[in-house]
Amino acid sequence: MVCLGNICRSPLAEGILRDKLPSSKYIIDSAGTGNYHVGDPPDLRSIKVAKKYGLDISNQKGRQFTEIDFDKFDLIYVMDSSNYQNVIKLARTETDKEKVKLILNEIYADQNYNVPDPYTGGIQGFESTFKMLDEACNEIAKKIL
Ligand code: 4NP
Repeated sequence: MVCLGNICRSPLAEGILRDKLPSSKYIIDSAGTGNYHVGDPPDLRSIKVAKKYGLDISNQKGRQFTEIDFDKFDLIYVMDSSNYQNVIKLARTETDKEKVKLILNEIYADQNYNVPDPYTGGIQGFESTFKMLDEACNEIAKKIL
C-alpha cells in the first residue's frame, strides 16, 4: 500500500487489508513515495479512525518506497495518480510495472479514481478515506484469498 507520506492513507490501507487476510499466507506493508515521515507513526487522525473500526495501526512506522519493494511484493496498490507515476519511475522491468495498481480500480474498474489526500482537511476526510479503502480491500481480499 503506497501513498505520499505513509502517514494518512496507506497506513489505513495496510491495517484494513491485514485484518481481512490470514497473516500466515500474506505479507502486507505500506510505504510512502516521499521521505518526509520516515520513522513516524501514522497521523493521529488515521489512528483514531482505525480505532473506531476496531483496528490498531499505532505501531506502524513510516518508510519510503524503494525498488526493492518490487522484489518483495506481488501487488503494489497506490492511492493516486501521482503515487502511480512516482512508483512507476522506480520500476526496472515490465513485470515491476504490472504489479502497480490504483487501489480504487478494484471497486471502479478502469476509472483511475484517486483516494483524496485527507492530510490538510478534518477528521471527516479520514472517515471517508477509511470507507473507500475498506470497500477496495474487500474486493482485493475476495480476489486473492
Ligand atoms: P498521505 O498524506 O500521503 O496519505 O500519508 C500525506 C501526509 C503528509 C504529507 C503529504 C501527504 N506531507 O507532505 O507531509
